Amino acid sequence: MKLHRIIATLTIGAAVAAPLSAQAETFPSRPVTLVIPFAAGGPTDLLGRVLAQSMGASLGQTVVVENRAGAGGTLASNFVARANKDGYTVLLHHIGMSTAPGLYRKLPYNPLADFEYLGQVADVPMTVIGRPDLPAKSPQELLSYLKQQGNKVNLAHAGLGAASQLCGMLLQQAVGAESTTVPFQGTAPALTALIGGQVDVMCDQTMQTVPHIRAGKVKLYGVTTRDRLKPLADAPTMREAGLKDFEVVVWHGLYAPKGTPPAALATLNKALRAALKDPALIGKLDEVGVQVVKESLQTPEALRTQLSSEIDRWGALIRQAGTYAD
Ligand code: MLT
Repeated sequence: MKLHRIIATLTIGAAVAAPLSAQAETFPSRPVTLVIPFAAGGPTDLLGRVLAQSMGASLGQTVVVENRAGAGGTLASNFVARANKDGYTVLLHHIGMSTAPGLYRKLPYNPLADFEYLGQVADVPMTVIGRPDLPAKSPQELLSYLKQQGNKVNLAHAGLGAASQLCGMLLQQAVGAESTTVPFQGTAPALTALIGGQVDVMCDQTMQTVPHIRAGKVKLYGVTTRDRLKPLADAPTMREAGLKDFEVVVWHGLYAPKGTPPAALATLNKALRAALKDPALIGKLDEVGVQVVKESLQTPEALRTQLSSEIDRWGALIRQAGTYAD
């Protein structure tokens, strides 16, 4: 009788334990959501979709892209900081993760305390572009135009905390211009407005702009990298155009909510590293002048170090510029 009861208990115990250990071993057992902090069709979305496809192949699960645009990327960051800590929600964000603490007096999350860091992803150059019929014919003419026309120039960007906003702010600072800034939910709608002539100028990432530049839909004035870019070899750098030290490269990182189990983080990091070796991904990025980061940066430590030093760097510049949101 007693023995019978013990055997029965063991059997029930084993039945309960099996699904739990199977669950832990098989992460991910359902699709993973990759949150994008800007509008669909824009540069972060385009990068996210390429990454999702390659990561999904190595995870053996679909990676579903979910756009949560608004407030320069801070809505999505806050959403992911508060999401379930199970590995099924991750965030792709860029340099804006490091500018937000300087730009927002009341940021509802802490980039250095509320996330797990999966690794750096890729560095995306920017282009300085204008509406097709903008009178300025060269980068030098653009700089004079921005200075002379003052607030008559409409400078588009994707909200406080967007790379386009940061680059536009640095451009105005460098020139001594006071353009009227026009925020959008991402540079996808901003680019549509630029092509349609509703706004005059903007900075935007090559991930989105290269095909539009090649099709002659916008005017290209220069690239924001230190050196010229292979896919836009005729375009000068903004430094060549006269802006000494002007350089903006949009670094990207992959994040999960703080407290995500280490095993899930390790699986996600492995999938990230596999994706960044995928020839299909590398080829697509190369076409638009984007480089994946070197292997030593594809780690949690490298992303956290980068984020922390960038928060310090941009915080000082943002204080100088006096740009804030309450
Ligand atoms: C976007 O995807 O819309 C951009 O990354 C926004 C930006 O940061 O300029």
